[in-house]
Amino acid sequence: MKKIIFLVLFISLFSCKKEETITKSKPVTGLITEKAMVVSARKEASKIGTEILKKGGNAFDAMVATELALAVAYPYAGNIGGGGFMVYRKSDGEIGGLDYREKAPLAATKDMYLDENGEVIPGKSTEGALAVGVPGTIAGVFAAHEKFGTLPIETILTPVIELAKKGITLTKKDERSLRGYQEIFAKVNTDSIMFMNDWKENDVIKHDNLAKTFTRIMKNGRDEFYKGETAKRLVAYLQANGGIITEEDLAQYEAKWRLPITFEYDDLKIISMSPPSSGGICLAQIMQMIEPYDLHEFGHNSMESIQVITEAERRAYADRSFYLGDPDFVSIPGDELISDTYLDGRMASFSFDKATLSSDVSHGSVQVVESNETTHYSIIDQFGNAISVTTTLNGGFGSKLYCGDLGFFLNNEMDDFSSKPGVPNSYGLVGAEANSIAPEKRMLSSMTPTIVEKDGKLLMSVGTPGGSTIITSVLQTILNVHEYNMTMQEAVNAPRFHHQWLPDLIQFEPDSFSPELISGLKEKGYLINEQNSPVIGKVDGILVLENGTLEGGADRRGDDTAVGF
Ligand code: DON
Repeated sequence: MKKIIFLVLFISLFSCKKEETITKSKPVTGLITEKAMVVSARKEASKIGTEILKKGGNAFDAMVATELALAVAYPYAGNIGGGGFMVYRKSDGEIGGLDYREKAPLAATKDMYLDENGEVIPGKSTEGALAVGVPGTIAGVFAAHEKFGTLPIETILTPVIELAKKGITLTKKDERSLRGYQEIFAKVNTDSIMFMNDWKENDVIKHDNLAKTFTRIMKNGRDEFYKGETAKRLVAYLQANGGIITEEDLAQYEAKWRLPITFEYDDLKIISMSPPSSGGICLAQIMQMIEPYDLHEFGHNSMESIQVITEAERRAYADRSFYLGDPDFVSIPGDELISDTYLDGRMASFSFDKATLSSDVSHGSVQVVESNETTHYSIIDQFGNAISVTTTLNGGFGSKLYCGDLGFFLNNEMDDFSSKPGVPNSYGLVGAEANSIAPEKRMLSSMTPTIVEKDGKLLMSVGTPGGSTIITSVLQTILNVHEYNMTMQEAVNAPRFHHQWLPDLIQFEPDSFSPELISGLKEKGYLINEQNSPVIGKVDGILVLENGTLEGGADRRGDDTAVGF
């Protein structure tokens, strides 16, 4: 009897203690600063961006510095041989978007990655010079600087050039990543490149030739990259490697200002990227489809929340594959796709009892008005301007083709086109005519740089890499803060899941979801690939707290770092 009383006492003491720890545990917060912050994939880049802000520069000046510093410190995805998207919200509430996405070269053709039987040739759109789209990054940063920048370009580029000369100290993650790419670097590059080495943590890689390229760009401006000596040397290099990009392709490249996609969710206003990124439209579709459900009540990563979000994702990605592409080439029924009437109808077939199968979901029917591997950084400056930028080479180190002479990797963004209708690209995404290849067309993206307002005031800047999982990672981060009251850092840390219509599978991050939850979902007919459970997204964001200070969320999944003052 005594023994039993003791046991009961012990259990209740233990459970009290557990309860106490939970209720008293402090929220995990990221870096908090008073005025300004940069959160990016690398400390070196966040620091340089912050230095520019401290010199009196604004978020757009800091964007130029951060973007170019990432090309040095994080060549895995940071780039000048790729492209990206920026969404901004100025302190006066003005919003906008900048598209510096790559373009298909003039000599590109619809069937360029197919063999004589019409089948996709593996690797052709992903490796080497033929996979490269016309790069947009230098045009993008100069367009942002020209419109909104305040500091001279020399002030912004000098610390980047110094960083390239001084070199980057490799982290453990760099060591692992570089080791995994040795074979493909050797396969794609005819000459040895400086990344082909048994690089170890704490080794330093210097980027002397990239420093020289930046120095010429600092002197001659954006045209150095598109019309100058750099352009000529780049084209000669690409063509010697079997590429089709010409000097004319570079000379014609322009970044484009675009109106972002905006929509409401509860008392939030979400501002995200418009086509040629699918990010904004898909995010709008998903959020509006889930809005009628009480996710807060269901609980974070509960069975009901996962079901509702999965079913909305399934339907949005089905539409993505059919309707979305470069708006300069195809007519996109954007307003219809995000209208309440359409989205209510889309969710009509959803039931909590049973999974909808993707084979039963096609793109929806809307009234078409006939007229016929990445990195993200967020910046809020001391003036209240916010930017959200996602930039990419597409795969890790892009096409793996490294132009040693100029010091940078070239993208493999051509793989984001649909090489053949219905055949998945490297992210398993299928596309249709809207995203077929055509000269000068921009390939469809999933990049979702996003800014959130609450009650008319800036609340958050957020985004992530992760290919097709970008949209769903941004979604979950916003929901984590808004529905589940997490701090920015907790929202970024929280385990994520993903569904993209095809393949009809929910992906869960490893070791983060309980076996009971997984088997409960399986019982309802959800298909889950437990063998393939990768890390999903690498989110960076900044949250404006109620007292006006800023909280950074730098993803624990990478070397991401918040710096500010
Ligand atoms: O634009 C896109 O959607 C892709 N090129 C993004 C690639 C990416 O996020 C790679 N990161 N894991």
